[in-house]
Amino acid sequence: MDPRCQLTRCAACCDEEGGLEAIRAGGGSGKRERETGYTALHYACHFGLVDLVTALLNSDGKVDLNGQTKDLILSGAVVQSGGQTPLHLATRAGEADVVRLLLTHNADSTLVDYDGFTAMELAQLGRKERVFALLQHLKPEAPEAPDGLEALEALEALKQKDRLAKEASKLRAAKQLEVPDHLRQSYTLPKIWTLEECNFVLNALKDAVSKRESGWTTDRHAAYATTDVPCSEVAEIDAWVRESLSKRVFSKLSARHGWPYSENEGHFAHSQGLYFRDLFFVKYSVDGQAGLSLHRDGSIVSFNILLNKATDFEGGGTYVEADDRAYQIEQGDCFVHSGKLRHGGQPITKGERFILVAFVDLDVWLVENLSEKLTAWNGACSERNTSTASQTDYTDFGSVKPDIVVHQAATWSD
Ligand SMILES: [Fe+2]
Repeated sequence: MDPRCQLTRCAACCDEEGGLEAIRAGGGSGKRERETGYTALHYACHFGLVDLVTALLNSDGKVDLNGQTKDLILSGAVVQSGGQTPLHLATRAGEADVVRLLLTHNADSTLVDYDGFTAMELAQLGRKERVFALLQHLKPEAPEAPDGLEALEALEALKQKDRLAKEASKLRAAKQLEVPDHLRQSYTLPKIWTLEECNFVLNALKDAVSKRESGWTTDRHAAYATTDVPCSEVAEIDAWVRESLSKRVFSKLSARHGWPYSENEGHFAHSQGLYFRDLFFVKYSVDGQAGLSLHRDGSIVSFNILLNKATDFEGGGTYVEADDRAYQIEQGDCFVHSGKLRHGGQPITKGERFILVAFVDLDVWLVENLSEKLTAWNGACSERNTSTASQTDYTDFGSVKPDIVVHQAATWSD
């Protein structure tokens, strides 16, 4: 593994020795997690890993001393507001030695998190006396603070601010779950892989699983576990699968949703702005895991490809709650849906069903740069949705490929 990734992973697991080893192996300051915004320094500060914090601050890796995290959202609620700097996290945890280190390296104590709190305000709210004293006295340029932790009036004001911030965070969480108009409809991309390609992938998968001591895993996704194997662990086909999906599926997603795509860079998923947040094979069987209950994925778009014959099993498919319908596809077809739409794996009642599942996200830079384009696209879709009964005719959107099947919004009758 890339020592930079290893460093952040070790820090996230509170493995200080592993983190130090990763720095010695050339891990620099580690890699920033895309979904959370956390760096190795954030984790090390949160866990109070003084030696690792010291090594990171003294490393050649140009550590981001004031990097800020994103909102952490679970089950539709913000469980930790974003904007946390390493100093905020060390303060919350009451890690005075770490706070002292950060301040001596000139961490910015005036930065506020998404709730509007400085580290010193968090220290007061959380009654972290040693940290509060450090923040108040070690940094002469720190903003004016009440005389002591017990300044009741100021504390009450902070508590009121905290209550308001929690209300605001609920709105942010709700906003995160909104599905943009252009992603409301699920659809199928037919024949992404030929039958021969499906068999090639499936055989390699089964071969790899037979050689794994642990076989299929069931604990990779904490809340809604599937019986799965990461694509990266099927070494024989991993590169082919990624390149194939990048060229055949990403290009179509980009055309459908107005996201940029470069043919020349088709094999570099990252450079298109689309990337795999997760890519894994799932097995459903009547004897084991037959289906998966309703949930949302953490992705912007998810898709799955059926690897075996549809006649190998009965039941199955992807159930989409908004449509009250289970979508079934043929071998080699690719079913695409918004990760934010609640969906589940319709249980099978006979046989075995093998699928490849992809969680796809957009790079932040792309989302930011695309806001105007997406707004225009949303507007076009909304206009169309109110003026036509059928959702299937998208042919006058120049960028939409004709081989995309758009499912009818459900008027569930069969
Ligand atoms: Fe899912």
